[in-house]
Amino acid sequence: MNNFYKMFSKCSVYQLLRKNNSPLIMGICVGIAFSIILTPFLGKKCVEISFSSSNGMRLRDLRSNDVPDSEDFEPTINLNDNIEVNRRGNEDSQSSKLIRPRYYSTELGMKDKILVSVISTKETIGTYGVALNKTLNHYVDKIIFFLDGTGSKKLGLNIPIVGFKEYKPHIKIFRILSYISEIYIEDYNYFFFVTDHSYVNGKKVMDIIEHLSISQDIHMGALQNDLNALYCDLDSGIILSQSIMKSLAKELLWYRLFSLCCDFQNQVYKTYSLQNNGWELSSYPEHNALVNSELEEALTVKNIRKTVDFNKLHMFFLQNYIIQTRTRISNLRQVIEETMKYSPLEISYPWPIGSPNIHTPPTRHDVIYWETFNATHIFMPNDLENVKPLSGVEHFDIMSVVNSSIKHLEEKYSEKLRLENLNYGHKRFDPTRGMDYLISLSLTNEKRRILNKKIEAYRGVTQPEFIPMPYVTENGRVNILIFIQSNDATKAIDFMQRLQKEKKIEEVTITFCLLFNAGDSYLSRDDPYKGLKDVLKSFTKQFYNSGSRANYLHLTVPNEKPSNFALIDLSLKKFSNDSLILIIDVSSIFQPDFINRVRMNTIRGWQIFSPIPFILYHPDLVEDSKSYSKKEIKTKNGHFDKYYFDAISFYADDYMKARQLIWRNVPLFRSEKNLKNDRKSYNITVYEMFVQNASLHVLRGVEPSIVLPYEPIQCPAEYTSNVSEVDSLCEKRQIYSFGQRNVLSNLIYEYYQKEKTYVSKNGYIGNNIAVTTLECIDKFA
Ligand SMILES: *[C@@H]1O[C@H](CO)[C@@H](O)[C@H](O)[C@H]1NC(C)=O
Ligand SMILES: *[C@@H]1O[C@H](CO)[C@@H](O)[C@H](O)[C@H]1NC(C)=O
Ligand SMILES: *[C@@H]1O[C@H](CO)[C@@H](O)[C@H](O)[C@H]1NC(C)=O
Ligand SMILES: *[C@@H]1O[C@H](CO)[C@@H](O)[C@H](O)[C@H]1NC(C)=O
Ligand SMILES: *[C@@H]1O[C@H](CO)[C@@H](O)[C@H](O)[C@H]1NC(C)=O
Ligand SMILES: *[C@@H]1O[C@H](CO)[C@@H](O)[C@H](O)[C@H]1NC(C)=O
Ligand SMILES: *[C@@H]1O[C@H](CO)[C@@H](O)[C@H](O)[C@H]1NC(C)=O
Repeated sequence: MNNFYKMFSKCSVYQLLRKNNSPLIMGICVGIAFSIILTPFLGKKCVEISFSSSNGMRLRDLRSNDVPDSEDFEPTINLNDNIEVNRRGNEDSQSSKLIRPRYYSTELGMKDKILVSVISTKETIGTYGVALNKTLNHYVDKIIFFLDGTGSKKLGLNIPIVGFKEYKPHIKIFRILSYISEIYIEDYNYFFFVTDHSYVNGKKVMDIIEHLSISQDIHMGALQNDLNALYCDLDSGIILSQSIMKSLAKELLWYRLFSLCCDFQNQVYKTYSLQNNGWELSSYPEHNALVNSELEEALTVKNIRKTVDFNKLHMFFLQNYIIQTRTRISNLRQVIEETMKYSPLEISYPWPIGSPNIHTPPTRHDVIYWETFNATHIFMPNDLENVKPLSGVEHFDIMSVVNSSIKHLEEKYSEKLRLENLNYGHKRFDPTRGMDYLISLSLTNEKRRILNKKIEAYRGVTQPEFIPMPYVTENGRVNILIFIQSNDATKAIDFMQRLQKEKKIEEVTITFCLLFNAGDSYLSRDDPYKGLKDVLKSFTKQFYNSGSRANYLHLTVPNEKPSNFALIDLSLKKFSNDSLILIIDVSSIFQPDFINRVRMNTIRGWQIFSPIPFILYHPDLVEDSKSYSKKEIKTKNGHFDKYYFDAISFYADDYMKARQLIWRNVPLFRSEKNLKNDRKSYNITVYEMFVQNASLHVLRGVEPSIVLPYEPIQCPAEYTSNVSEVDSLCEKRQIYSFGQRNVLSNLIYEYYQKEKTYVSKNGYIGNNIAVTTLECIDKFA
């Protein structure tokens, strides 16, 4: 009782001393109160208390840089939760699949580094809070602002805010702690607390954390200014490790938060306090550095009175950082140069010193080519083109190198130079190193004399970034949608029979959209699709247990085949918004792993997928008919047709959204009656629709698991202005479809030799193909 009496009396003293009723006071009070009860802890100023260190389950943070102790590294897979799931799963099915956690990080116990909690108020969040967010947010994993007396009311600020309904400043810190330990304690290794009147040097905080091992309890902060202070100051910021947070939450020993501030593992926690009026940042960084070496070391700067000081301080620290980094780079270069002399081998070091090594090709297939360019064109940019105009980012890239080169030369010769001409240049992209350039420039100086200079330049790959992508699973259902006319019925049966040979097809629905001509009745006795319907039934029976189905739907259409847009619009009505739709040709031959790639590459609201299939050449233009009939993926048998855009997968609602944007070009088809508005050909294809409206990513890649047989390609006889870009590539597609270029050139040669008839190893082939080929090649070569 006596102690509690003391506690309250001390509180009132503090309250008198500090006007702004900082929530800290309560903490300090409680801290003091308990410190009186538990004096033994405080006998030594820095005591490391090991709370509940359980040695068995210690996981090293994979991202920390320090060397692990031998027992520090014990990977453990926690399967307890999953065993439960398994048992439940087994009740209805025999499969005993190990269901893994959603993310590797869950299984490995990986966490984000740091969560910053800022204690703010309604009045200051819009000024100090925003300034703090701007200068700190990009360094840390998450930042949350805590306010009193706002509830969950929106403040119209683009920052995460947690508001407590009632206004209770005295216990705010406790509410914050319990809020965080309830929601975030498992997700972060460190927790940082600070008030919004302090600038936080985010880079330095992250540096310190990188050098701490999470195997120990960490509790860092700066003591209050008071000479005899025993408690950390919230304005200076406090770093707690997860272990401390956990024991705080468990035992509710909040007082520990405010006692025992220590520097851990040789990391020193420094803070800087702006004086009441005296200190002004100079706009010259060198000057600042001289004046303020103390400021340089600080993790936080407290007592900020103007929001603009956040920006000034940020600029100061950034400039400082640049100066430091440059000094470090030049020091390192010097060291490398000195040690190079002692190298036992004559190694040629890449320029500039310290840049990654140039790729040494192990075989002749891995040589990285130099691309040659002049001021307007790039030569041999790929296998199919000889010259390509230099434009877009490539042009910008080269011009920025030219500009820097001129700047360099101007500094070197201390005179103004003007670019006359970029004569030629070479560039080479090495993925591990960056871009190297060699350029030849003609320049004129002030006396109008022409200088010719060759420049070597290098643009390093600096900080590769991960591009975050939404999470996808391999479990989703794929709806394969195939449109067929009555003369395709046999192909459809073949398609199904190929699939029936597979051992397992999981979670696939195959839907044939059967087109009937108006006038025909599908109820009539000679249903052209009868055979197919039987196969569909037997497929469903066969794969029923693995969740696969096959079915069909009817569309009555005019005599001419409607456009793809019309067909897709009408059949999508049968699918829910979240269905993954894959559209492929009925003659496609695919392996089941292709379906998994569709699942992984199609992301709802994010990405669509258009695979490039392997299309076989004309059978008469292939030498090895054995390998050809097995449809092996070989350059002699066929090619990946990059002009083929008909295989495509997307989510139903993504399609509908994109579709609504182009309704002016292509009318929407809501029912079969609308088909009379169908113009059959449009200046846009389904693929282009997704590309043009860039809200979705489009993934295109070669797909060796789909093979298409050879089929003659029909191109429109004449092109009007309303032909889509893809369709205008039809003739290009046609020329590449026949065979390999050397085979074709032989064919043409022999065609001229023998005139009209040609006997290949495969036997006689008619004039037809040769003539077509010839015509095409004559026309377009
Ligand atoms: C807070 O910082 C983040 C990241 O820098 C930024 O996206 C956001 O707009 C900032 N909020 C405000 C209100 O400035
Ligand atoms: C670059 O090369 C192309 C192709 O040879 C040529 O047409 C063009 O005129 C050249 N550009 C310049 C600036 O020399
Ligand atoms: C290069 O310098 C010129 C002239 O100063 C300028 O117009 C151009 O925008 C610069 N290009 C790049 C890529 O920096
Ligand atoms: C399906 O998506 C479309 C287009 O986004 C939308 O208009 C419709 O309301 C959605 N339907 C359902 C049931 O969510
Ligand atoms: C793409 O979408 C925008 C609206 O987001 C629309 O104005 C534009 O016309 C669309 N593009 C095409 C080619 O329809
Ligand atoms: C396509 O045709 C429509 C008219 O049918 C026209 O409004 C639109 O601009 C055309 N789009 C392109 C990309 O040519
Ligand atoms: C193509 O456009 C022309 C006008 O430029 C129009 O007369 C013709 O009907 C259009 N053809 C198709 C198939 O839409």
